[in-house]
Amino acid sequence: MAPVLIMMMMMLSSAMGADTDSFVFGGCSQIKFMPGSPYENSVNSLLTSLINSATFTNYNNFTIQPTTPSSNTATLYGLYQCRGDLSNERCSRCVERAVTQLGTLCLDACGGALQLDGCFVKYDNVTFLGVEDKTAVTKKCGPSIGFTSDAMASRDDVLANLEASDKTYRKTGSGNVVGVAQCTGDLSPSECQDCVSTAIERLKMECGASTWGDMYLAKCYARYSEGGSYSRNTNDDSNHNDDEIEKTLAILIGLIAGVALIIVFLSFLSKVCEKHKGGK
Ligand SMILES: *[C@@H]1O[C@H](CO)[C@@H](O)[C@H](O)[C@H]1NC(C)=O
Ligand SMILES: *[C@@H]1O[C@H](CO)[C@@H](O)[C@H](O)[C@H]1NC(C)=O
Repeated sequence: MAPVLIMMMMMLSSAMGADTDSFVFGGCSQIKFMPGSPYENSVNSLLTSLINSATFTNYNNFTIQPTTPSSNTATLYGLYQCRGDLSNERCSRCVERAVTQLGTLCLDACGGALQLDGCFVKYDNVTFLGVEDKTAVTKKCGPSIGFTSDAMASRDDVLANLEASDKTYRKTGSGNVVGVAQCTGDLSPSECQDCVSTAIERLKMECGASTWGDMYLAKCYARYSEGGSYSRNTNDDSNHNDDEIEKTLAILIGLIAGVALIIVFLSFLSKVCEKHKGGK
């Protein structure tokens, strides 16, 4: 039975991994580089560095100098930031996925940024490292019905606690409401604080009494939800996730049925054996 349990746990965690992978936003610079140019080499080497680094740390930045100093290829900058609670293994898987999607979405673009649920990746030839940027990128609000005044008070608690924390990654809960906030690691503590405060202000203002809300600014985000799930999306991704869960459930049910059959078969065999022994 033990191996079956382990398999079930692995499948459940891989179903949960799908949350880390769900797409939040992506954007590319309009300017494109020439395929085969030194710029392309720089982009490839930068993105490879990000993927390699994500196997041992949750945040890193890279600056790639042009290979030939005489050429007018620009210096390239890049960073990734995993959500603070991800293991190195989940972080590297997320960054790898984000880089792959960035390669498709921003094909030959001089710069690009992509946020998955669990990680953020950005590269550009204009430096953005250590530059605070509170541009609103994406906002999503849940339905504004069904939030009791108790839940509303919990929500306000959660947001206040998120703001009071001084970490790059923040997670709090109150009542049935949980919240999370994350800055990119290139911000100073005071810049992170300023960014998170802005995100929370906008959450309160724009999501009002919604049962959940996500506010993504260029260098930080703040999210809250009732019931502790961050993975409800308003777009097609939710269907995709439901499919994943359904698939996992189908496999689980299949496994359990299989195990039950084996047990029935084994007990049948042992009865047959006993009959044989008794017959002798
Ligand atoms: C970035 O690259 C593009 C395309 O090569 C170029 O037009 C632009 O001037 C570069 N920007 C900087 C800051 O070097
Ligand atoms: C970028 O990375 C270098 C080397 O890891 C580090 O010393 C520096 O502080 C980082 N810069 C920012 C803005 O995060």
